[in-house]
Amino acid sequence: GEKWVLMKTAQTPTNIAVIKYWGKRDETLILPVNDSISVTLDPAHLCTTTTVAVSPAFQQDRMWLNGKEISLSGGRYQNCLREIRKRAREVEDKKKGIKIEKEDWEKLHLHIASYNNFPTAAGLASSAAGFACLVFALAKLMNVEEDESQLSAIARQGSGSACRSLFGGFVKWIMGKEEDGSDSLAVQLVDEKHWDDLFIIIAVVSSRQKETSSTSGMRESVETSLLLQHRAKEVVPKRTLQMEEAIENRDFASFAKLTCADSNQFHAVCLDTSPPIFYMNDTSHRIISHVEKWNRSEGSPQVAYTFDAGPNAVLIARDRKAAAQLLKRLLFSFPPNFDTDLDSYIIGDKTILKEAGVEGMKDVEALT
Ligand code: PMV
Repeated sequence: GEKWVLMKTAQTPTNIAVIKYWGKRDETLILPVNDSISVTLDPAHLCTTTTVAVSPAFQQDRMWLNGKEISLSGGRYQNCLREIRKRAREVEDKKKGIKIEKEDWEKLHLHIASYNNFPTAAGLASSAAGFACLVFALAKLMNVEEDESQLSAIARQGSGSACRSLFGGFVKWIMGKEEDGSDSLAVQLVDEKHWDDLFIIIAVVSSRQKETSSTSGMRESVETSLLLQHRAKEVVPKRTLQMEEAIENRDFASFAKLTCADSNQFHAVCLDTSPPIFYMNDTSHRIISHVEKWNRSEGSPQVAYTFDAGPNAVLIARDRKAAAQLLKRLLFSFPPNFDTDLDSYIIGDKTILKEAGVEGMKDVEALT
């Protein structure tokens, strides 16, 4: 048979929501009950690298995650693969003497290898970077014409938050109105250069796998929480506009106030769910109190905090100076292996604190 293989590699960073997505109005298409806004982290530190390959020698679609084969039979993978294949176009590599016609893509099989440059078990959103990277790499391989926003609507069907990782900087996921989800996609609000003095530090409170997946948590919240309905209808629409304004004006005081309030409301919705969902633990709560007290004593906020579906704190410092102070405070008040359950201060094998700048992550030593 034919021996050729054609490959593409892509790298996609993860993102952290400052206005949270929590609740689906359609579980299959992954359509949310509210808009959300996120900041994309630096790809050097929290990202997925995915290589996709096509060859007539491949017998079936297969995928490896961090070197271990995983099943592609789930609906989320199947939806992404189908949507991308639909948009595949002719590809010609004259040097290798390969020509793939548009209709060949239906019959050809793919091999996909994906790596996270951070521990998958660290409770840090890995699906966001993963699906964004998969869709982006496949689009490149198959010569797909669609722009990032249109691709985001495909990545969304893998994992909701993934749609926001197709862009750098600050990104908004517009919930959309259409039943087919065609207008539920991500747009870039500002690029990564717009607000580049921000610093992001992630305190890995626990690397244990979360107990309630976001999918089942959201489902239970949608079914049982009245606060979720109030949030989606009355709170987020206004808050999203205020957040866009704060980002546009690089107004850190407003940005911090809105970010913290939105994280707290998301976790309040989790508590308002029946049975209640606890994503944060005592250490998370103590970090919140610490930051609140510090911000108040400074007269203006130095740091914003936000927590996803787990206990890890994502801390966004207004600038390098505030980030350095934050690190010293954290190391003093939350020493590793002491009375906190702060897991380890590790990325790779050195630190327990992960630090990523919007424009670049520097190592902890360089910062302090
Ligand atoms: O995309 P999912 O299913 O991993 O859900 C993400 C939900 C949160 O991380 C809690 C909030 C968000 O907007 O990213």
